[in-house]
Amino acid sequence: MSVAGTVRPLALGDLAAKKDAGEPIVMITAYDHPSARIVEEAGVDMVLVGDSAAMTVLGYSSTVPVTIDEMLMLTRAVRRGLTRPLLVGDLPFGSYEASDELAVATAQRFVKEAGCDLVKIERGGTTVDRARAIVAAGIPVVGHVGLTPQTATALGGYRAQGRTAEAALAMIDDALALQDAGCALLVVEAVPAEVTALLVERLTIPVIGIGAGADADGQVLVLHDLLGIYDGPAAKFVKRYADLRGAALAGVEEYAREVRSGAYPAAEHGYGMPSAEVARLQELLAGR
Ligand code: KIV
Repeated sequence: MSVAGTVRPLALGDLAAKKDAGEPIVMITAYDHPSARIVEEAGVDMVLVGDSAAMTVLGYSSTVPVTIDEMLMLTRAVRRGLTRPLLVGDLPFGSYEASDELAVATAQRFVKEAGCDLVKIERGGTTVDRARAIVAAGIPVVGHVGLTPQTATALGGYRAQGRTAEAALAMIDDALALQDAGCALLVVEAVPAEVTALLVERLTIPVIGIGAGADADGQVLVLHDLLGIYDGPAAKFVKRYADLRGAALAGVEEYAREVRSGAYPAAEHGYGMPSAEVARLQELLAGR
């Protein structure tokens, strides 16, 4: 809270301070307004409207098909629900890779049309140039290495990355190149904890892990995984903190039972009319 009792939005400097202080950064995904209100109230530091939305809320079988417009619609809803945490927009597959101009134009849409504080892009390689271009345009960038779902097919599927010395070295080089390009933060997904520890030692920017061990500067999980809403296969690193799908199913089943049995609606769920008005209405109807 600030002096006036209003909530002070977090800034990038707060994340750097947390890293320096050894205070873990809490990041989570959200895809709609009610979830944004919940994660804000729970006190998270960063909210990612991940392209995992493709699978968690839009019913696609991978993150690849989701469009810029779909992501912008979800991101705007989350923006309307957030005050304090930093908001990260996830640039979808095909919206930034082809050129620096395309990357900057897409990143600008996420800032201008959805109010993002940062944007996230996946992979090293040519993405390093895209990151540099977006940063040069004044937009903070989150890099993402290790398992990068947008290009999972090329990586041999949804599997841990950097499990040989050579593969880990290549990933660390990508991470260093992304930092040199100006990335403010790095997400590292599904890599051995030992590799994360070596990476964190070598980077000055905060490293946010997902399935990357406890040595990262912070953690991110997909909201629908940790709350038990998503009923697709879960990665090894997912910990379920609730069973919202089970609770929701039980609630809807009970509603259906009560509608069918006549238990719902009861008198208290409806509106009344004074008996004099009912009598008058009956007279009016009879006089027709
Ligand atoms: O799309 C997403 O939710 C992500 C996180 C898993 C980091 O990229």
